[in-house]
Amino acid sequence: MKKLLILLSLAAMPVAGFAAGGEHAKLDAVKIDLSDKTSLQRGARIFVNYCLSCHSAAYMRYNRMGKDLGISEELVKDNLLFAADKVGDLMKAVMPAEEAKAAFSTVPPDLSVIARARKPAWLYTYMRSFYRDDKAPSGWNNTVFPHVAMPHVLYEWQGHQRAIFKQDGAFERFELVRPGSMSTEDYDKAMRDLINFLVYLGEPAKLERYQLGVWVLLFLAVFFVFAYLLKKEYWKDVH
Ligand code: HEC
Repeated sequence: MKKLLILLSLAAMPVAGFAAGGEHAKLDAVKIDLSDKTSLQRGARIFVNYCLSCHSAAYMRYNRMGKDLGISEELVKDNLLFAADKVGDLMKAVMPAEEAKAAFSTVPPDLSVIARARKPAWLYTYMRSFYRDDKAPSGWNNTVFPHVAMPHVLYEWQGHQRAIFKQDGAFERFELVRPGSMSTEDYDKAMRDLINFLVYLGEPAKLERYQLGVWVLLFLAVFFVFAYLLKKEYWKDVH
C-alpha cells in the first residue's frame, strides 16, 4: 500500500509542476490540422526566424522538416537556414546555453517535444498572453506562465497588452495599449500556424502515419469485399 502511494505521488509530480504555472488561466482551444501544409510551412518560418535564436529543436534536421512539409532543399537553404550551414544539420539554438543562462538566468528549453509536454491549447494561449510588467526583468510577464523568463519576442506583431486583474488577483482580460503590425485576428492565425508546426515537431511520424492510414483503410475495404464473397460461397449450401 505504501509503495503504491509513493508511486502514485511520483506519477502526479510532473503534472503538479506544470500546473503551478497556470492554475488560474483559462486556455483557448486551437484547431490543429497536420494536413494543412501551408499552415505548417508558415509555422516553420516563424519558428526558425523567431524561436531558434534561443531555443533548439535538436531532434529535427532541416532537410527532414523540408521533406515532411513539402519545402524543397533550395527553399530551405534560402529561407530557413539562418542558424545552420547545411540542410542536414540539426536545428540547434543560435545562442549558446551559457550565454542564455547568463541573460535569462535559465536555459531556454529544447522545443522538440514541447507540444506533448504542454498541450497545444496551453501553447496557443501562452503565445498570446504576454503583457507589459515593469517589475519583470525582461519587462514582460505572462498570465499562463507567471514570471516567465522569456521576453515577448513577437510584440512587434501583437503589440503591447496590459493585463487587468480582479480584486482577488485573478486574471480578467487584456487591453491592447499599443497595437502591433498585425490585427488580433491575424496574430491569432499566425500563432495557430506556429502551434500547428510545434505539434508536427513533437511527432513528425504522425504525417506518415496519416498517409499510411488511408492505404490501410483502402486495403480493408477491398479485403472486405473478398471476405464477404468468400463467406457467401462457404455458407451457400448450409441454408
Ligand atoms: C530571447 C530568447 C527567447 C526567444 C527568442 C524565444 N524564447 Fe521561449 N523561452 C525563453 C526562455 C529563457 C524560457 C524559459 C522561461 C522560464 O523557464 O522562465 C522560454 C520558455 C519558453 C516556453 C515554455 C517552456 C516550458 O517550460 O514549458 C515555450 C513554450 C517557449 N519558450 C516557446 C517559444 C517560442 C514558440 C518562441 C518563438 C516564437 C520562443 N519561445 C522564442 C527564451 C526565448
